[in-house]
Amino acid sequence: MSRKIIAAGNWKMNKTAKEAVEFVNALKERVADADSEVVVGVPFVCLPGVIEAAKGSNIKVAAQNMHWEEKGAFTGEVSGPMLADLGVDYVIIGHSERRQYFGETDETVNKKVHAAFKYGLKPIVCVGESLTQREQGVTAELVRYQVKIALLGLSAEQVKDVVIAYEPIWAIGTGKTATSEQAEEVCAIIRGCIKELYGSEVAEVIRIQYGGSVNAANASELFNMPDIDGGLVGGASLKLDDFEKIAKYNK
Ligand code: 13P
Repeated sequence: MSRKIIAAGNWKMNKTAKEAVEFVNALKERVADADSEVVVGVPFVCLPGVIEAAKGSNIKVAAQNMHWEEKGAFTGEVSGPMLADLGVDYVIIGHSERRQYFGETDETVNKKVHAAFKYGLKPIVCVGESLTQREQGVTAELVRYQVKIALLGLSAEQVKDVVIAYEPIWAIGTGKTATSEQAEEVCAIIRGCIKELYGSEVAEVIRIQYGGSVNAANASELFNMPDIDGGLVGGASLKLDDFEKIAKYNK
């Protein structure tokens, strides 16, 4: 069993197209010898430049959202074929900020996951509980529910290509990282849920990341936990030194 660690940056709404290209040009030299799979999740307008800059390097590129329809009257939205045409590898789906501020639900997440596969994009599906939900003791049920609905209707082969990002909302942008034990506990619950639904072969292969205040100092401990296969990194992915260290967590 060997799952490749995936160090993915989620830039959120940061960097202009020019800044993005400069960043990736510098990053590609720094992570050329990283053992992890390095992904940058950039704003839509940065995608063309970043994809061009990343060509020939080991950096993969993610969009931060997509619509589930192929095309149509959906002002302000971007579709799967548009992303695939640019050469996007991954798409982040159902980030808690999208659920909180833009009304995304488990059902729309599921539609987007299906659309991602339809157009040859690999989904990074975000799940995670709020502080209230953790205090209410419903973390396991909630996360299992989110995972189950997100993947509904996928084949076992497709599920192998999904990346799940466990991101407790209380740890996002707060500097309050989940302890490696807390993160491992929930990632193991997610893997157990995948095993129940899709069997042990799929559960052994699917990658489950942790996200929430991952930084250069804590990445190694988190990524070395048995059920944590890397991180979805916000703030620290915007800084070259920090993201390089995270991508090279084992060096
Ligand atoms: P921070 O790393 O800034 O806490 O953000 C985490 C996140 O939301 C990644 O998707």
